Amino acid sequence: MAQNKRAQPSPATQVWRSIFRHGWSGSPIDRSLAITSNVFFHLHPVKVDRRSLRWSYTFGLGIISAILFLVLIFSGALLMFYYVPSVERAYPAMKEIQFSVPLGQFTRNMHRWAAHMMVLTVVLHMVRVFYTGAYKPPRQFNWVVGVFLLLLTLGLSFTGYLTPWDQLAYWAITVGTNIAGYVPLLGKTLQHALVGGIEVGQSALLRFYALHIAVLPTLLTLLLALHLWRIRKDGGLAANEQVAE
Ligand code: HEM
Repeated sequence: MAQNKRAQPSPATQVWRSIFRHGWSGSPIDRSLAITSNVFFHLHPVKVDRRSLRWSYTFGLGIISAILFLVLIFSGALLMFYYVPSVERAYPAMKEIQFSVPLGQFTRNMHRWAAHMMVLTVVLHMVRVFYTGAYKPPRQFNWVVGVFLLLLTLGLSFTGYLTPWDQLAYWAITVGTNIAGYVPLLGKTLQHALVGGIEVGQSALLRFYALHIAVLPTLLTLLLALHLWRIRKDGGLAANEQVAE
């Protein structure tokens, strides 16, 4: 009979429930299902120490770095619609982005500021991890992963620096790649591999661009996934072992 039928939820509710399958309130099992059936909450370990959730323990520096990386991917992808990695067209393309493209100046500034901020927050995050002793076993492997994340962040900053192809970019990369030439044993090979010739020119711009938009972001994404997975497998943040209440 019609009155015995349960009322159908509205389409909006059905869509919501297909994504978030469990409510917040209810029994302890309902509450734990709300966490384990959500991919983002699922990144947390089964149990976390209350102290590790304190803002002053991490200052959110790791997650801020990750968010800045997402901002950089988003704004970088928008810049790619207009930027051309050619010595004749790179500089005019940057100026076009700044002065003619709708929201171009804003997008470019967003990319630059997020890049500067990410270098800062990653370094501060590393200092925080060191200060709280979270590099000690069992997290020593994640510390090493972190060192590579720092190198990739610096690599992205360095390779992005050449792309505007202005005087500052040209001379900074000329100096930077000359310094690379002084690395013991591998120096000259490394310098040649980066520059693709004897001086910074079209080959260097194309190589830096490929590293900047494809190689380094892909490596950083893969290592970041490993980094976050390791945090979970190491039992969450080290707060419970290192910090007294
Ligand atoms: C792209 C750069 C990086 C991102 C996005 C990132 C992200 C994160 C996040 C979200 C956390 C958990 C929350 C927090 O501590 O704020 C974390 C923890 C951790 N990170 Fe990073 N990280 C990066 C670089 C580094 C670096 C450079 C190091 C050290 C060399 C490092 C070592 C660690 C360690 C050992 C933990 C566990 C901390 C603990 O147990 O208290 N990470 N990272």
